[in-house]
Amino acid sequence: MNQRRPARKRTKPVAIDVFVPADAKSYPVVVGRGVIGRLGDELRRRHGAPERVALVSDSNVFPLHGEAVAEQLKEQGLRVVPIVVDAGEQAKQVPVLLDVIDQLLRAGFGRRDAVIALGGGVVGDLAGLAAALFMRGIPVVQCPTSLLAQVDASVGGKVAVDLAAGKNLLGAFHFPLAVFVDPEFLATLDDRQLASGLAEMLKHGALFSPEHFRQLVDAADAFFNRDYDAIAPLIAASVSLKAACVNRDPFEQSDAGKGRVLLNFGHTVGHAIESASNYALAHGEAVALGMRAAARVARAKNMAGPELEATIVAALERLRLPTDVDAWLSGERGAAVERALAHDKKRGGGQVSFVVLAALGEPSVISLNPRELLALVRGAG
Ligand SMILES: NC(=O)c1ccc[n+]([C@@H]2O[C@H](COP(=O)([O-])OP(=O)(O)OC[C@H]3O[C@@H](n4cnc5c(N)ncnc54)[C@H](O)[C@@H]3O)[C@@H](O)[C@H]2O)c1
Repeated sequence: MNQRRPARKRTKPVAIDVFVPADAKSYPVVVGRGVIGRLGDELRRRHGAPERVALVSDSNVFPLHGEAVAEQLKEQGLRVVPIVVDAGEQAKQVPVLLDVIDQLLRAGFGRRDAVIALGGGVVGDLAGLAAALFMRGIPVVQCPTSLLAQVDASVGGKVAVDLAAGKNLLGAFHFPLAVFVDPEFLATLDDRQLASGLAEMLKHGALFSPEHFRQLVDAADAFFNRDYDAIAPLIAASVSLKAACVNRDPFEQSDAGKGRVLLNFGHTVGHAIESASNYALAHGEAVALGMRAAARVARAKNMAGPELEATIVAALERLRLPTDVDAWLSGERGAAVERALAHDKKRGGGQVSFVVLAALGEPSVISLNPRELLALVRGAG
């Protein structure tokens, strides 16, 4: 990989087991510097001897890291077929998905082969769905390179592309064979995207671990300075929190409040703002605003005091994330957010399942209609 710091003493990689219910087995998420060097062995151990691997990446990540990763895979005895898609959410579309599958076919891929996703959440979702569909499913190994994908998108087995009617509407559960998280990929990720991933980490802390929440705030400089040995354990901790939630409810079927639905904390208003911004805001930036909105709803409903919002705002500021949710609540922007909320796919019978916190680490789910929701956020401002 390019632009690396000189090697210094490395902390040992951390391995986390995530359960796959359908097969009653688990897959490892290995977090640490240089972990890609173990990929070939892990693949052979779990999948026999693949002849080829498709290294699916995007037009930003492949020029930065593709050659080095391909070289490492070749050294591990794998034949590598690179497949590069355009960077950005527009790659999560059916024609691109079919093109990836076509390239697998033309390269002569079969069921013994595997797909490696090297990139952010877009590549992970696209390559994962291609692997799920190709010949009824071949293995995918996730090598996430954005912080958001490292702590969130690569873990849990959800893969999807977008349809005109909305994001992630065509997808599957396809659990990865393994996930390799190397924090050194973050060297080339810009600070805005880094902060976007920090928003999801903060979400894991807010939902499940006040300690993790505070550690992230304290480690803000370590993240922006790319102090890999300091941030690797925090990435592992965040993955563990998500993995524990996913393990409780692998297929998102639990009753409201018990399972994966909690991971929507900050996402209801966040998605609406993201779409009203026409995706000018990064996903984590919109989630940051959504978490502040959720704290206001909790206060308006007398479920939490004002200190929750203050704590969340202070943390977001420290992690270089936006906090001005009011800018999205009135005028044309407010109307656009309201329209987007009304389209929320999780809406059932005009109601939205909304995740609130009574305090850090104390989540629950309430049911609201979109109009009432925005009125609560505005009223508590
Ligand atoms: N499957 C899930 O459970 C899940 C969960 C959360 C998000 N997602 C999906 O993930 C996507 C968002 O993920 P994302 O924020 O990683 O977006 P992304 O994949 O578009 O990556 C963000 C940008 O960073 C670039 N990039 C990635 N790694 C880099 C690196 N190391 N150096 C330089 N540039 C790099 C990418 O090329 C892109 O331009 C969305 O499509 C979302 O729906 C999926």
